[in-house]
Amino acid sequence: MRSSSGVSILTPPDAPGRQLFTNCAQVVTCAGPPRARRGPELSELLIERDCSVLVEGGAIVQVGSRAVLERIAGVTAIDCEGGVLLPGLVDSHSHAIFGKPRFEEQELRAQGLDYMEIARRGGGIHSSVRDLRQRGEEELYELAMRRLLRIASHGTTTLEVKSGYGLTIDDEMKMLRVIARLSRSLPLRLVPTFLGAHEIPLEARATTSGRSDYVALLVKEMIPQVASLGLARFVDVFCEPGVFTIEETRTILSCARREGLLLKLHADELRPSGGAELAASLGATSADHLAAISESGVRALAEADTVATLLPGTMLFLGKDRQAPARALIEAGAAVALATDFNPGTSPTVNFPLILTLAVSQLRMSVSEAVLAATVNGAAALALADRVGQIAPGFSADFALFDIADVRELPYWYGDRRCRATWVRGVPCHVESR
Ligand code: NIG
Ligand code: FE
Repeated sequence: MRSSSGVSILTPPDAPGRQLFTNCAQVVTCAGPPRARRGPELSELLIERDCSVLVEGGAIVQVGSRAVLERIAGVTAIDCEGGVLLPGLVDSHSHAIFGKPRFEEQELRAQGLDYMEIARRGGGIHSSVRDLRQRGEEELYELAMRRLLRIASHGTTTLEVKSGYGLTIDDEMKMLRVIARLSRSLPLRLVPTFLGAHEIPLEARATTSGRSDYVALLVKEMIPQVASLGLARFVDVFCEPGVFTIEETRTILSCARREGLLLKLHADELRPSGGAELAASLGATSADHLAAISESGVRALAEADTVATLLPGTMLFLGKDRQAPARALIEAGAAVALATDFNPGTSPTVNFPLILTLAVSQLRMSVSEAVLAATVNGAAALALADRVGQIAPGFSADFALFDIADVRELPYWYGDRRCRATWVRGVPCHVESR
């Protein structure tokens, strides 16, 4: 892709200088307060036409009239060729570090075996754990690198990545080191989460004290080590009947908070267990999944700062006929975000715009709600709402350019890859080859 001045969009990666993103059919700014949007605010999607975006040193300095900004001298013009420019998508929930895919489980589910039953038989998360423990750091890095490039190619510029397929100190640290290395070598913005409480390891399930010993290991050794090494920003727990109980989750997350880490929960995914209420009461940054949330859970999230992160790809892929009650959450005033939940078991999709399609068609969200949920509210679910998720002065120059003329086409061409290019801090992250 060439700019009108003949300059390639591949500006030098280390020194973006002054750039002007121009010739867009629409600039979807998502501009507004630097915090999660709720209720009717989610219907206020700001879209500009005849608008260009001036960037300096990787930060947005001005969003304004194309005719005026194109007169500024000494800038690298980036010709968006009539596409739609959005804030880079913020995917706040993924399990992107894993070894083998688990495609055999999809046919087991088609035959009627459910996700938790597969796990009880030693498959599911346990299967990814067995596999990951045998792999070296280098191999996991290479596998994840290829997957992250695919994720970036669909418009994602910020991605949360969880550990959770190691379940020993060494294997969990191995995963977090892989995330740190990826973060240093890719422009993609990665946010690491420690999910040592993703499952009770099979070896711990085999003894009577194994379960409480594993919770003690998390609290006394793993979380303090993660915090002291600065390897994660968040701690997450799979709080679900059959996995971690409400009390165990409270113990683990209280420890994380004492260690200065932020909190997330896999809450009320398959059965209601009070996960959303616990997330709200602990001041978690987000409660994720929520397909089985109770009415009191909806009320608790509406009254809390905790972002309700919905993952419709997971319920679709598991073949469930239930989805999270997005309308009830929005109408109650909760801050709703969307994410892929990219993982080898329940949501092997790298395509974030496809999740927007599901949000509109399955969760009955409007395009405005879905776009704000995947940008501003995704950023809020990562405690980054003051830096990413908006095209506004002071925000990072994280953009996704799509080959469409109207933002409503983004969820419409479902499954297609319309992303032409992305930038993070003004540096090209993904560029579509033509
Ligand atoms: O978010 N539910 C728990 N964790 C993942 C699935 C992980 C897996 O099956 O490997 C999720 O859906
Ligand atoms: Fe998950």
